[in-house]
Order: sequence, then structure tokens, then C-alpha cells
Amino acid sequence: MWWLVLLAVGVGADLPTLDNTKWGCDDGPEGEITPFKITFDDEMIADLRMRLSNHRRPVPTFEGVNHRYGFNSYDLERWIQYWREEYDFKKREEALNKYPQYKVRVQGLNIHFIKVEPVNKTKRKVTLLLLHGWPGSIREFYDVIPGLVADHDSRDFAIEVIIPSLPGFGFSDAACIPGLGGVEMAVVLRNAMKILGYEKYIVQGGDWGSYIGSAMTTMYPKEVIGFHTNLPTASTSKAFMLMAVGHYFPDLVVDSSLSNRIYPLLNKTLWLLQETAYFHFMATKPETIGIAMTDSPAGFMSFFLQCISGGTRKVNPGEPEGGLLKYYTREQLIDNLMMYWTDNKITTSSRLYYETIRSKNGSQVMSYPTDVPTWALQAPDEIIYMSPIMLATKYKNLRHATVLDNGGHFLALERPAEFGADVLRAVTEFVRWDDLYGY
Ligand SMILES: *[C@@H]1O[C@H](CO)[C@@H](O)[C@H](O)[C@H]1NC(C)=O
Ligand SMILES: *[C@@H]1O[C@H](CO)[C@@H](O)[C@H](O)[C@H]1NC(C)=O
Ligand SMILES: *[C@@H]1O[C@H](CO)[C@@H](O)[C@H](O)[C@H]1NC(C)=O
Repeated sequence: MWWLVLLAVGVGADLPTLDNTKWGCDDGPEGEITPFKITFDDEMIADLRMRLSNHRRPVPTFEGVNHRYGFNSYDLERWIQYWREEYDFKKREEALNKYPQYKVRVQGLNIHFIKVEPVNKTKRKVTLLLLHGWPGSIREFYDVIPGLVADHDSRDFAIEVIIPSLPGFGFSDAACIPGLGGVEMAVVLRNAMKILGYEKYIVQGGDWGSYIGSAMTTMYPKEVIGFHTNLPTASTSKAFMLMAVGHYFPDLVVDSSLSNRIYPLLNKTLWLLQETAYFHFMATKPETIGIAMTDSPAGFMSFFLQCISGGTRKVNPGEPEGGLLKYYTREQLIDNLMMYWTDNKITTSSRLYYETIRSKNGSQVMSYPTDVPTWALQAPDEIIYMSPIMLATKYKNLRHATVLDNGGHFLALERPAEFGADVLRAVTEFVRWDDLYGY
């Protein structure tokens, strides 16, 4: 969840030219590609089970408060039992390996990614890059992939998907020097796409994936032919001015049926303050929280699941079990946690907050306008909503905004069918646009 970065609005300067800093410490040949499989080895599993078994009992949460004080200690016991005794590590390892995976070395970092070819090999191939965020992972997209790569009679193209783990997440290397924020990651991922042979492609992203995808779109308009995002935001001063005007005259800036997604501003701001302490912490002291979570899977799980609960529905903290099991299975959520636990990526992923809010190039790129066709997908329980006129201050060619009446921040995981269908509509429009007006 990255949106607080919005506060760092860039001040109308030129688009910076970022360099190809060597962020990683792998001196092997740049561009080398190797096949990869996720491994849940016995030693890791035994250590994890031991830690889960020996966790110190938390003080009981008050009766009747559900998750309002944070993750509920009664619910925690059941989750621990599930992870330790019922989660089938070997079966899940196999399931998570069902799509082909590789690593590619870019700027000293080995970047892990899934690559799935379209079912129809004879049609023109369109490449779609899907970007996850925090506390998500590539796992969010697993149920969306089959629908995207399937053959459809109505289309004369077929889709191939590339889904990387962000640097410092999942099975991708973390930087070994400071400074790798969201915009710098956009450079790394673009270079990865170039190495893989993609000159033109479409980008989709939510959460940090939206930030990074937006940066790629802005910096590489000849390569990114379209940008689909389920967390559309414009961090321009004009967008914030429109938001302020709407405080007094909402009808001027937002459709009246949607004004309650932005206003009253005080109510929305208070909600953000209540639910996003994690952001402030990771943006200032990522190592401290990282040490705690790396040592204790119970603590790590509580922290992550609480963020997923709050990001899924605004009412969830007041719901039994934080509402989690209404939207996800335990297996899905533990799969997602395994993407952090297995390769010790809890601390390194947290650093993205620290680095991004300090990147001057980042805020400049984010506030710089782009003409690349953009498509917004807007769920009611997304953490922030901006109207098309606000978004157009950044995305000059906003082709469409799909407004959902159900759904939250982790849309690909929560509603894969609706998410996939909207991405397909957007891809069709981007291909049409590129055929007509593309470079
Ligand atoms: C940030 O932008 C400046 C100016 O374009 C550039 O010199 C610098 O190398 C950039 N920083 C990174 C990390 O790319
Ligand atoms: C691929 O698409 C072509 C053209 O529409 C069609 O003739 C062919 O049967 C399709 N192949 C597969 C494997 O679906
Ligand atoms: C915002 O408004 C809603 C609906 O009136 C209310 O339920 C909620 O408690 C308010 N949130 C805050 C943080 O004030």
C-alpha cells in the first residue's frame, strides 16, 4: 500500500532521466536467464513449525472488539494451528510451481518472474506485465492467469503474461545498497523486459504495482502501450486542488453517485490514519519491524493479515475474524505469506516504503503527465478514490474508468473473474489504440 506517497507531490520539474545503477551484488553476467522453481525445503518447514509451536501466548484480546485493537489473539491461535498442521507445504509448493518461472539478472539483481505463453500460438502475441504490491505477491494473480492467456474468438491477438516478484520480494534479490525505491524499480523492470526481448507491452498494477507501473508508463511511453490499474491515483498538485474544491462543491469534480468515495475528506483522512500506521513505521524504521517479524511467524502473520483485512473492507476491523474468511481461504493467504517467509523477504520488502518516500526522482516522475492510454478499475473499498477529472491531470489519455460496486484493495485475489474481464477489455482497447496511433 503505497498511496501516502501522494503527499510528496512533485513540483512541475522536468522528467528526470534515471540511470542503470547496479543495485544488486551479483556480479554474474547481466541478462542471464535461468529457470527457477519455488522450494519449501524440510529444514525451513521444520524451523517454521517449531517457531509456530513455541510462540508465546498473547494476552487475550478484549471480548467483543473483534479486530478493532489490531489482530485478535483468539483468531490467531486458529491461524497458527492451520499454518502448522493443515497447510500442506509439499502440495502448495507444487501448486505454486504450476506456471513456468525464471530469474533474469538485471543491474546486479536476480529478478524472479512467471511467464505464461498464450494458449493460441498462431495469433499475434500481446505481452502483459502484471505487478503486485505489499503485502501481496505474485500469488494474487494465480487465479487470473488462465482467463488471460485463454483463446477468445472475438480477438485477433493472444495474451502472454509476465509476472515478476518485485526486487526484495518473493524470490527476487534485494538491493545491497540504499536507494532502490518504486521509480528506480520501474527502471529495473523495464530493463528486465528489454532483456527478455519485449519492445512493446502493456502494464497492469495495483498497490505498489500501480506506482511502479505508472512510473514505467511515464518514463517509457514508446514501450508501454497501455496502463491498467486498480489503484488509479494522480499525485499532481492539480488533482489535489480539485479535491479541495470538491470539499465545497463536490458536483464540480465528481459524479454525485460517487462523491461518498472521496468526501467528507475528514472522515476519509481519519480512516487512513487509523488503518495505515504500518506505512509510517516501514517508511521510517523498516529494520526494526523487520527483525520482529522475521523472528516470529505469529507476529508476522498478525501484521500481514491485519493489513489484508483492513485493505479488503473498511468495516472489517469491526467484523468477526476481521472479515478475512468471507473473501479468501486460509490457504490463499498462507500461500501469500510463504512468498515472504520462505526466502526471508520481510525486511527487504518493507524497505520499499523507506526508499520511495525519499526518492526525489520518484515524486517528479509520479507528478509528470503521460499520454499513454490508461484504464482505471475502481472498487468501492479501495483505500483511495479519485474521479476521472482528477486522474486526467496525470493520465491525459484516460480511456475509461470501470466503477465496481463491490470489492477491495486486493482485487485480483478477491475477484479474479471480474478483475480479469476488465483487464481484457482494457487490453483490447490498448491494442486498438496502438494499431491506430502507436509508434
Ligand atoms: C535521478 O535523476 C537525476 C537527474 O535526471 C539523475 O542524474 C540521477 O542519476 C537519478 N537517480 C537515479 C538513482 O537514477
Ligand atoms: C488460434 O486462432 C486461430 C485463428 O482464430 C484459429 O484458427 C485456431 O484454431 C486457434 N488455435 C487454437 C489452438 O486455439
Ligand atoms: C466515516 O463515516 C462512516 C459512515 O458515516 C462511519 O461509519 C465511520 O465511522 C466514519 N469514519 C471515521 C474514521 O470517522
